[in-house]
Amino acid sequence: MTTYRICLLPGDGIGPEITAEAVKVLGIIGERFGATFEFSEALLGGAAIDATGTALPDDTLEAAHAADAVLLAAIGGPRWDTTDPEKPRPEQGLLGIRKALGLYANLRPVKIFDALKDASSLKPEYLEGVDMLIVRELTGGLYFGARARETGVPGAATGGGPGMRAYDTLDYREFEIERIARTAFEAARTRRGRVHSVDKANVLESSRLWREVVHRLHAAEFSDVELVDQLVDNSAMQLIRTPAQFDVMVTENMFGDILSDEASMLTGSLGMLASASLGDGTALYEPSHGSAPDIAGRGIANPLAMLLSVELMLRYSFSMHDAADALASAIEGVLAGGWRTRDIADATTLPQKTVGTTAMGDLVVERLRA
Ligand code: IPM
Ligand code: MG
Repeated sequence: MTTYRICLLPGDGIGPEITAEAVKVLGIIGERFGATFEFSEALLGGAAIDATGTALPDDTLEAAHAADAVLLAAIGGPRWDTTDPEKPRPEQGLLGIRKALGLYANLRPVKIFDALKDASSLKPEYLEGVDMLIVRELTGGLYFGARARETGVPGAATGGGPGMRAYDTLDYREFEIERIARTAFEAARTRRGRVHSVDKANVLESSRLWREVVHRLHAAEFSDVELVDQLVDNSAMQLIRTPAQFDVMVTENMFGDILSDEASMLTGSLGMLASASLGDGTALYEPSHGSAPDIAGRGIANPLAMLLSVELMLRYSFSMHDAADALASAIEGVLAGGWRTRDIADATTLPQKTVGTTAMGDLVVERLRA
């Protein structure tokens, strides 16, 4: 029997609650598909700041490196919110671990569950044929370029005196653009064969380089894939206007952050969007949503994005495709049965079918057992 080591990073807010559901579901998957999952657990984000003073302790990085895959829930919360650049922030843990593991490719599948068509903020007819994959560059761009805050800058204050100035830099090197474009083109070949490359080439130099590199790679190796350039503001509009036009969308780190939250609403809830972060070594899986501090500890969080992230882990890291398919159809079955967590419930949801985090996990387990 194969043993897979999974490093759990429950993090903050609803993180521990949805992690428990993932562990529960992996238990039954192991039984049914003949694998053993061994778990280690480490601190990240606010929980790590409280315990150690830093958002990404060395032990956490070691545990992540030692594992076959990392499963991260969510980090952050108002408790650690600060604009003081000297204070540690939970997000440093997340960005730090992405960078340290070299996870440059963040894949966010946007898949519509038939049963949830009415939960979407778009009318159901707009969702016909929607099945897209957002490929977000994850270790470069605006998130990782030079940034600073300067004080005493002449003319910076209101009124013209010395004041503060801050900047963040959108910085890309050729190889970073090329490897993420390759990920996108390769993914498109296994799907509907279309890539939208999203940039702001009418304004940004980094986007002009992005476009050049994407087209060069396309001409050299992927001319069988359809390539469409799209400006990011237009993409934001197109996502709502005709979302079915998209197959694979590849884009800069922050553009991808913003567009994936937008795209999640097609599925009805940010609580439905999974993600896989891949690089050259250990991969990391995490829901695209945050730590939802407003509902933390109340047992009502939607664990499905976490479970869909487990599905991606089974596929990409363990090549357990049958198990991944079984998990996907278990989730589909539960939704088709009318079961909803609060975020995806609507006027047609029966009150007795509106369930909490643990019950939703149990329903998925039940279907996996059947
Ligand atoms: C995400 C999140 C993170 C990001 C935050 C929590 C730093 O929004 O994974 O999309 O911006 O990457
Ligand atoms: Mg985000």
